[in-house]
Amino acid sequence: MEKDIIILGIESSCDDTSAAIIRNGVLLSNVVASQAVHESYGGVVPELASRAHQQNIVPVVHEALKRAHIAKEELSAVAFTRGPGLMGSLLVGVSFAKGLARSLDIPMIDVNHLQAHVLAHFVKEMDEETNQPQFPFLCLLVSGGNSQIIQVKAYNDMEVLGQTIDDAAGEAIDKCSKVMGFGYPGGPIIDRLARKGNPKTFSFSKPHIAGYDYSFSGLKTSFLYSLRDWLKEDPDFIEKNKEDLAASLEATVVDILMDKLRKVAKDRRIRNVAVAGGVSANTGLRNAFHEYAQKYGWNIYIPKFSYTTDNAAMIAMAGYFKFMNREFCSIDLPAYSRVSI
Ligand code: KG4
Repeated sequence: MEKDIIILGIESSCDDTSAAIIRNGVLLSNVVASQAVHESYGGVVPELASRAHQQNIVPVVHEALKRAHIAKEELSAVAFTRGPGLMGSLLVGVSFAKGLARSLDIPMIDVNHLQAHVLAHFVKEMDEETNQPQFPFLCLLVSGGNSQIIQVKAYNDMEVLGQTIDDAAGEAIDKCSKVMGFGYPGGPIIDRLARKGNPKTFSFSKPHIAGYDYSFSGLKTSFLYSLRDWLKEDPDFIEKNKEDLAASLEATVVDILMDKLRKVAKDRRIRNVAVAGGVSANTGLRNAFHEYAQKYGWNIYIPKFSYTTDNAAMIAMAGYFKFMNREFCSIDLPAYSRVSI
């Protein structure tokens, strides 16, 4: 009988400490500890994030092993997020992975966080029918730190065709939410409010950028200045219009994202289109994907909510693919805060 391949995945690039176990390509556990400590600051505080990772990492890994009914001695390899991300946060996961791999004398696998978001589409749970994307496919990767259109030719062959030249879509939503005085992160709040609002009430500026790149800083400014003018006339403007403001903001972001994605799909003649990253939890964006599937005959791939935001299941999955290719890394490998796909 062939030996089981059991991968522990570790994610610590931003403000979620997560560990997951995958056996022979099937997910056994995925534990995520989110850090509430940042809420009162309206954004992630790097130093607090790394401290919280230090507190969480041991219990989170322990819990992932326990839920999977796996002893650490059974692990075949440790996969970890090498980057991109916050350096202090990454170092906690990278150092832990190094220590564990060395103590168990098993290989280490470095994972690119952005590639892992794309590979989240291949996470398979026990007894689950999955709808996995067929190669080649396009993936719209939208999170708090990234907005990219990626052509995925194989598990390990991805090309960035377009990306934001300034802010990410998630960051723009979070900032606009913050100027309205809502909590952090703004994405889920805007999503909830938008469901009750009219997306056509307000219009905000859209960028005119050539090619497949995005820009969201102009939208942020347009939102801020419009709001400032409206508030001068009526100090209760936000409270009275919050649903319509959220719906109009969401619709603008979704339009910007989908316009470019459609352009790429048309030019490259690709009909398999996926979405990934934290913002792919957004209801308006998910609805737009379904609409485009109808209109343009796309085969669409939308991840489960649990695999949209940062999680270690996607890191373990990416690690599993690399393990099958015997792509291991050395123990002196540094973390990196910035890196492309
Ligand atoms: O991938 P992710 O967890 O990691 C970072 O890049 O940090 O993405 C987080 C982003 C945040 O900007 C958050 O507001 C956004 O995803 N987000 C959403 C929704 N849920 C999370 N944005 C819009 N609608 C949502 N439902």
